[in-house]
Amino acid sequence: MSNYHFRRNRRLRNSTTLRSMVRETILQKEDFIYPIFVIEGEDIKNEISSMPDIFQLSLDKLLEEVEEVVSLGIPSVLLFGIPAEKDAVGTGAYDDEGIVQLATKLVKQAYPDLVVIADTCLCEYTDHGHCGVVHGEKVLNDPSLELLVQTAVSQAKAGADIIAPSNMMDGFVIAIRQGLDAAGFEDIPIMSYAVKYASAYYGPFRDAADSAPQFGDRKTYQMDPANRMEALREAETDVLEGADFLIVKPALSYLDIMRDVKNNVLLPVVAYNVSGEYSMVKAAAQNGWINEKQIVLETLTSMKRAGADLIMTYHAKDAARWLEEK
Ligand code: PBG
Ligand code: ZN
Repeated sequence: MSNYHFRRNRRLRNSTTLRSMVRETILQKEDFIYPIFVIEGEDIKNEISSMPDIFQLSLDKLLEEVEEVVSLGIPSVLLFGIPAEKDAVGTGAYDDEGIVQLATKLVKQAYPDLVVIADTCLCEYTDHGHCGVVHGEKVLNDPSLELLVQTAVSQAKAGADIIAPSNMMDGFVIAIRQGLDAAGFEDIPIMSYAVKYASAYYGPFRDAADSAPQFGDRKTYQMDPANRMEALREAETDVLEGADFLIVKPALSYLDIMRDVKNNVLLPVVAYNVSGEYSMVKAAAQNGWINEKQIVLETLTSMKRAGADLIMTYHAKDAARWLEEK
């Protein structure tokens, strides 16, 4: 009489082999992009207090780190620079001898096949810590674009394989695309931080990159965490402007957005598993409250399941090792 059907879903979970056969999402080391902080100076290997196992490295310490990344089979690194001197217009960002430019040259010379992604922003280089130029308390859009274009072109000249602009000024993708094209870099892709929320999860990064805003916050350029439609608008804008990849950032609290973006664009989607997400896991692990390996692999898998094709993550080296063990 009843229409209810007793369905045995557990049948497909009965053995390790069977579970692996029906697994829908496979995490692999090729998915990872490892962020590295390069600092001006010599003989520097500073652990970031809020990010255990993550360091600011001077150029003479950089290749050791990169060698490890390469030997683990991670295909790509994302370079952030910390200059010795900052000024109002972030001159260090677009200096051909700037820290990211020198790091890029060094890494590409030693490891030509490693994909070097340059973060394109001004906040590490400005004395006020904002991602663009300011007038009074206002972060100016269009005047910032010119400097971002100069930064991107300078990074491309140094040998960067991909330009990743994270500044969230309007029109940054098309400005950088035109700038790269005009300089003969029409083959260099743009990995755009298209969907970037104004998030407290960036806290530890700002220690690492010494890039905290000295006044106000980033809410006039980064997105409101409460908004979903706005993410699709930002994604669409960057597609129209010629982006080649779209980054969604942060990742963990924004997996719904990741799925929305994946379902609405035809470009590869990149999750940025940001500093605060990393630090929370490390802190709990250090306290013995969680199983770090399992938590990290579960978390990274959830990002892929939500639609990420690639994942920028500070866990990349550990995760690559753990995936090898399994
Ligand atoms: C700077 C930038 C930030 C991050 C990447 N690029 C921080 C910010 O916008 O303040 C965050 C990365 C992280 O938290 O791991 N434009
Ligand atoms: Zn910035």
